[in-house]
Amino acid sequence: MIIFVMGVSASGKTTVGKLLASELNVPFFDADDFHPEVNLKKMASGKALNDEDRKGWLITLNALAKKEAKAIITCSALKESYRNILKEDLDKAVHFVYLKGSYELIYDRMIEREGHMMPVSLLQSQFDALEEPSTAITVSIELSPQEITEKIMKELSPKSDFGLIGLGVMGKSLCRNLINNNVELAMYNRHIDGVEERVAANFKEEYALDSAAAFDDLRQFVQALNTPRKIMLMVSAGPAIDHIVQDLIPLLDAGDIIIDGGNSHYSDTKRRIDSLAEHNLHFIGTGVSGGEEGALKGPSIMPGGHPDAYEQVKPFLERIAAKDKDGLPCCTYIGPAGSGHFVKMVHNGIEYAEMQLLAEIYQLCRFGKGMSPEQIADVLDSWKADGLDSFLLEITANILRKKEDDAYLIDLILDKAGNKGTGNWTTVAASQLGYPATMITAALYARYVSSYKSSREEASSVFGFENSAVQALSTDAIKEAYRLARIINHHQGFELIRTASDTFEWSLDLSAIARIWTNGCIIRSELMEQLIPSMNAHAAILHQNKQVKTVQDAREHLIALNIASLSAGFSMPCFTAALNFLHGYTESRGSANIIQAQRDYFGAHRYERVDDSSGKTYHTNWI
Ligand code: 6PG
Repeated sequence: MIIFVMGVSASGKTTVGKLLASELNVPFFDADDFHPEVNLKKMASGKALNDEDRKGWLITLNALAKKEAKAIITCSALKESYRNILKEDLDKAVHFVYLKGSYELIYDRMIEREGHMMPVSLLQSQFDALEEPSTAITVSIELSPQEITEKIMKELSPKSDFGLIGLGVMGKSLCRNLINNNVELAMYNRHIDGVEERVAANFKEEYALDSAAAFDDLRQFVQALNTPRKIMLMVSAGPAIDHIVQDLIPLLDAGDIIIDGGNSHYSDTKRRIDSLAEHNLHFIGTGVSGGEEGALKGPSIMPGGHPDAYEQVKPFLERIAAKDKDGLPCCTYIGPAGSGHFVKMVHNGIEYAEMQLLAEIYQLCRFGKGMSPEQIADVLDSWKADGLDSFLLEITANILRKKEDDAYLIDLILDKAGNKGTGNWTTVAASQLGYPATMITAALYARYVSSYKSSREEASSVFGFENSAVQALSTDAIKEAYRLARIINHHQGFELIRTASDTFEWSLDLSAIARIWTNGCIIRSELMEQLIPSMNAHAAILHQNKQVKTVQDAREHLIALNIASLSAGFSMPCFTAALNFLHGYTESRGSANIIQAQRDYFGAHRYERVDDSSGKTYHTNWI
């Protein structure tokens, strides 16, 4: 690569050229050193060089450029014809950098400068000869030499179209997915001495990701991106996001877009969108579901934020997303503010309850019906063909078959469930919005109960409760109870999203959300496929014609499962929550009149009457 730094006399070519040469670690040549004696004498005598005088000198510089593999050469290169001589027959990349300044500014600089061969009187002749280049990297000399050099470096480096920060498990898989889909990618991971060193470079080497650029310097990473920049963060949700955003802000330009692909809280996302807007920057909060494998082969993607910003990142996100059965990307614009992360949060809430239902089925079959893990796996596998196929059902069957030597691995795993918080957030959000997402809450609390392992062991020895057999309950009845419980779980999850959409005025499209959850994500299932068209009717799932018959037919099995399992001493938090919700939701006259009367009795909170539909409230003097 040859870089000619050009401009009139005293525009700063030598200073900038030397800085550039040291940044790029290439040889530096000053064209003034190549003038023949006769030219030097002519200039010193106050006479301007003409085309003929300059010709031989330009040919010498062209020969120099041909000889050097890489070089920075400063040369006034005032005319297009001069530049043509300089670059003639060069078989390497050639760049012209034009240092542009006004006559007045350069004149002032020249009279301050001492000992230069070019007299001030010749400056006007330089401007007269100057033909400004149209294709050069043009930088104003009003900037400091350091700033000019940085700008040139920025322009010279090959640019990537998309950047990703955070090379953990998910970040690495998404990088490989982007590269496999021909995205020009820049990857960044922080440097921590002795802990995280050369992470991006090592990852690039390990997977031979030749087309990607690897950085552990944030400024260089940002400079390597085309504007408007699109930078995806795959770092831990919480303060880490705010820290990296703060580091990025001074490096970004107006219109750049940061995409948070972690499981961030939706209210944090809204706050970040608002605060970045003050810097003319965009922030998109997107759910990304599918775990490590999904990230690599195609996740379900739930982006929320400003629609204009989404339009710019859409081609990249759609390219890497899973595809639905019609080949459409499992990625769609969810809505404004934190709606993308809200929807992902509820996805995880539904995931919690789906997982817990399968755990309860395992418990019942293993210890109530005395089935082996392999037998349970066979039963679960058989349900796939009966409308119950789902990713979580499939992996649970696989888990149950897994052996370590002669033992089932499931028997070697401690029964103490962890969580990273999204189920908790969903429960809190449902509570704040006043929506009864009882199955998600039950699934979350079941995990919390499990975590008290030592207390449970102690209580078990104190009380000595025994489990009895539940042989009378068939696996077919369990299947139907499971079918119904799943419908209730999905009903609650989608109604929670609908409630948020109405409350926050997000205008979310529930059918589109169901569609992008049909592949790539953890809760993909045959049921989700069935929900897509019905969600368009804006009817809650339990009210959809298709589900009413299933609910009517399966209810007796859900009741049977609850009676049998509870009386046999098993804990069934999600199945009981499903049945309680179904009964509470479908009874036209419940027990809340007692609650209202109690409230009015001790607190004069007033109540409405069934014989007055005006909304008027009453108070009774109860004593
Ligand atoms: C997904 C998963 C993913 C993560 C869960 C685990 O959609 O890909 O939901 O986001 O595995 O958040 O959450 P817990 O650790 O809370 O179970």
